[in-house]
This record gives sequence, structure tokens and C-alpha cells, in this order.
Amino acid sequence: MLEKVSIEHITIGMYIEQIQANNTRTKMKKPGFIRRSETIENLRQKGVEFVWINSEAVDEELTVEQHQGPQTNASAEMAKSVSRTINVKDISIAEELLDISKKRIQKLLDDIYSNQPIDIEPISELGSDIVDNIFTRPEAVHWVSAIRNKSDYLMEHSLNVSIHLVNFGRYLGLDQQTLQDLAIGGIVHDVGKILVKDEVLNKPGKLTPEEFDHMKLHQVYSQPVLDSIEGLPETSRMVSLMHHEKLDGTGYPNGLQGDDLPLIGRMSCIVDIYDALTAERCYKAAMSPSEAFKIMMSLTPFHLDRDLLKKFIMCVGFYPIGSLVELSNGRIGFVWESDSSDLTTPVVKTFFSAREQAYRNIEYVCLKKRPDIKIIRAVSESKIGVDFSRFRSITA
Ligand SMILES: [Fe+2]
Repeated sequence: MLEKVSIEHITIGMYIEQIQANNTRTKMKKPGFIRRSETIENLRQKGVEFVWINSEAVDEELTVEQHQGPQTNASAEMAKSVSRTINVKDISIAEELLDISKKRIQKLLDDIYSNQPIDIEPISELGSDIVDNIFTRPEAVHWVSAIRNKSDYLMEHSLNVSIHLVNFGRYLGLDQQTLQDLAIGGIVHDVGKILVKDEVLNKPGKLTPEEFDHMKLHQVYSQPVLDSIEGLPETSRMVSLMHHEKLDGTGYPNGLQGDDLPLIGRMSCIVDIYDALTAERCYKAAMSPSEAFKIMMSLTPFHLDRDLLKKFIMCVGFYPIGSLVELSNGRIGFVWESDSSDLTTPVVKTFFSAREQAYRNIEYVCLKKRPDIKIIRAVSESKIGVDFSRFRSITA
């Protein structure tokens, strides 16, 4: 798969197939890996503005260097470049999953809207894809949340709830079948929203009591739809039925209380709220994960299960991939790669100075190799008042 990358962001280790100068795209006579910074400088001097890289290609030579060491400055630089190349691949996988998932979920919603019978097969297939990807490429799947688009909220919220449920279920050690059922549950959990009035569903601001009552009806609307899906697993149904319940019995639709709200229901409540808080909507900015966790902790123990929420926080981490952080050297950037064995020292792609409120050259800071630099806080774009979304892309 080819990826377009601007000249400023070409790095050693990328495999270049095509270049673009003066709006003309040309195939390289000799496609290949960039191994020296001089090559990048040459391209720049020739007026190249963009290159098309093969994100699947991994430079074996660099991989060998990375594993054999010793870590000279040059080999460390190249090792960084290898992992960055792999990261391009992660984003491509995430984009592909997002694209396919949106089409499948859109089909599901269209079928509901036009009263067509709903086939469990494609939903189940999407569920399997999500579970498979979380086991084989968890980092890639986590990018889905970071590259979501606010205008496709319902579809992307369903996909994200599905991903978070599977990831959380895996963290809790739930069996494979339950994970698969959780994935399906996430996809269908809000199907009733398709029948909620648009002006209520997308209202910019707080709902009136009457509007809130109408919004709550999505749970009522969901029931006949779920009943009509032949072969829908019980666990999946529970995700949909219980994600608005509260431990003190004040939730809806059934006012389940305490032990009547089982693990699947409690997980669903946590995941649904987390995704809603951290999503950007046309009427509200996205919260950082840590801000969302703070609010969610304040909803315990009467609404959410405190011990389970603590586990969810451990599972997601305060600095998930794609989240924005400020470093102790004053730079702001996105968490770019993360190592599940140590969530506090990810690689951060920095591009902004918090002190000077100005853009700076892009740098990839590996906190594991830079113990002198720490993450001091998670930040949100809305608080800084700048839109950084273009830096989430490799083509920024
Ligand atoms: Fe809902």
C-alpha cells in the first residue's frame, strides 16, 4: 500500500516508490529505502514536495542493526526510523479497519431504517476482525480511536465501544467466545438511535428533560431490532440492554441495581461513557483520557463500579496511542507508539511548544531512551485552542 508523505516528514527507513515535484507525480527509476539523511536533502533540493512510500516494506538491514546493536547514535537513529515505518503500517491498518467497519455498520443501520431483515453474518465477521486485530495488531487498532471523524459519530462510537470492550475483556482474561460476543455487542449497542429524532440526537448543548426522555427511547427502539437479529448472542444483547444502567438503580431501561447488573453490563457502562467523553462532537471538544477518568471516578460507586473502572484505567493507560501530552521539556505532541510493559514511557511525536505557543520541527521522542524527559500532563486541543489533527496523520 502506498502512503503520501510530505518532504518534511520523510525519515530514514522509508521505502520510496514515487515522488512529486511541481504537481507532477513520477515513479522512481530505482525505488528503495532511504538510508542516509543526504538522500532526503537531495530530494528537497530537487524541489520534491511529496513522496509515496510503501508502508509495508521493512528494511531488513535496519532491523538487523536494531537487534544487534551496539547502539551507536547512528544505529539508534535508524532503529527509531524502523519503528516509525512500522507505525505507518499501523495507521494504514487502522484506516482500513475504520473504512470497512463504517461500511458494514452503515449497511446495518440502513437495513434497520428500511425495515430489512438483519443478517448476523456480516456483524459477526466484523466482530471477528476486531478480535483478531486486537490480538495480532493491538497498536494498529488503538489508532482507530485517534483517527475518528466527528461527523460519523454513531458509526464510529459503535466501532470504538466494540474495540474498547474487546480490549478490556482481553485485559480481564475473558474467553475468546465472550470477546467475540462483546465485539458484536459494541457494534449493535446503540442501534435504536437510528430512530431518535436528528435534532435531539445531534443537539449542540444540554437536552431538555423532554428531549432526554426522547433520547432514552433509543433503548426501547433497540429491543425489537435486537429481537429480529437471528442468532444474536446473549452477551451481545446484554451490552446493548445494559449500557445505560447505574449501580444505584437509577439507570435505564430496567433500573437494574447492584448485583443485578452483571460484569458485562458494568463493563458496557464504563466503555460507553469513556468513548462519549473522549470523542469530539460538533458541539463539544474531546476530553483527554485523564480528564475523562477523573469524571468517571466521580461517578463511582453509585453509577459505575469503582474497582472495575480502576482496571479499565490500567487497561487503557493514561496516555493511550493518539492522545495528546505535554512533556517536561515544554513540547506538546501525540503519543505515537506505546509499549504495553511500560505505559509511562511511550514514543511521543512532538511539534508544538507549550511555552511559546508556536509550532516546532517534528521530533519523535522515545521516553524510554530519554529518562531526562517525562510526560507532565495529558492535554486537550480545545484547552490549547489549536487544531492539531493534521499531526495525527503520517502525511502531516
Ligand atoms: Fe446508548
